[in-house]
Amino acid sequence: MGHKTRWGILGTGRICGTFAEALAVLPDAELAAVGSRTKSAAAAFAGRYGVSRAHESYEALARDPGVDAIYVGTPHNLHESNTILCLEAGKAVLCEKPLALNEGQARRMVDAARRTKRFLMEAMWTHFLPAVVRALEMAGRGAIGEPRMLQADFGFKAPFDPQGRLFNPALAGGSLLDVGVYPVSLATRLFGDPGRIQSSAVLGETGVDEQAAMILDYSGGWQAVLSSSIRTETGHSALLSGTEGSLRLVPPFWKAQRLIVTSKGGEESIDLPYEGNGYTHEARELMRCLAEGALESPRMNHEFSLRVMRTLDRIRAPWGLRYPGE
Ligand SMILES: NC(=O)c1ccc[n+]([C@@H]2O[C@H](COP(=O)([O-])OP(=O)(O)OC[C@H]3O[C@@H](n4cnc5c(N)ncnc54)[C@H](OP(=O)(O)O)[C@@H]3O)[C@@H](O)[C@H]2O)c1
Repeated sequence: MGHKTRWGILGTGRICGTFAEALAVLPDAELAAVGSRTKSAAAAFAGRYGVSRAHESYEALARDPGVDAIYVGTPHNLHESNTILCLEAGKAVLCEKPLALNEGQARRMVDAARRTKRFLMEAMWTHFLPAVVRALEMAGRGAIGEPRMLQADFGFKAPFDPQGRLFNPALAGGSLLDVGVYPVSLATRLFGDPGRIQSSAVLGETGVDEQAAMILDYSGGWQAVLSSSIRTETGHSALLSGTEGSLRLVPPFWKAQRLIVTSKGGEESIDLPYEGNGYTHEARELMRCLAEGALESPRMNHEFSLRVMRTLDRIRAPWGLRYPGE
């Protein structure tokens, strides 16, 4: 067997635990270290997931010579500084979605990856799931004619906590960056950069968008009608309509395991389960790229993540929602 990729996890929150579970089913991955702001959280996480080394700072994790790649699972506002810290310490980075708060931050992260010649990828895991990969491939080869309209939503009801990551502007709260990024990313994959964007948001008492609706128009006459929420349970659907039929990622679309294709020939249901808890696929992609010496993934490259950030910035601009430091 070849060299295992030695992973570090930066942060000890909810998604960090989920990612640790994903690594556990990958024979080529070793979860070597975790880094936290506090010694107690690092030790507790290490104990829970069987991690060899627990660091009581992110800096110590970044400096750990026994780590090849670091997964950054902190709130969005910290992605830029945490990622650059790791890149400059010589590590490959898989950074949670959205890559950053805005395009400017994302660009500085990409610049750092290029300067340090280290791998960087946004952890937009959905795009690596077999059902989503197949849907995009079928759409691309004309299975539903010309795809012209995407309707997609991601909304869930989060308990209201003004200090928590989802509602606190200081932690880049709001629905667009947290979950709206999924439909926007899917639309970007299908249609590229939008021309006209119309959007409307309900800003809550902490000032962040608790619910948002958007219409993206593309030069080819294509459209995406998208929504996001942290106050509302939506249907989590993604329906792509084309001139000859439609393609539906069975909800929740962001972790779809089944695809329904409707065309003149009738309806076809295709089961495409993901491996492990689904996050394994993005981890595999990083390891595959490292083995090949690639500095970015051809399946989730820097330019793609920058495009998504640019569109998120444009969607948010008319709302007057600025995060601290922007
Ligand atoms: N891909 C997915 O399915 C998915 C799902 C959920 C979230 N996410 C993304 O993952 C990131 C984290 O989300 P989460 O739900 O895991 O958040 P979370 O449970 O609040 O955990 C965030 C972690 O970041 C660290 N942190 C550093 N500074 C912090 C601060 N000022 N306030 C709070 N935490 C801080 C903490 O770890 P230490 O205390 O150990 O330093 C904390 O445990 C977000 O960017 C989110 O978009 C992705």
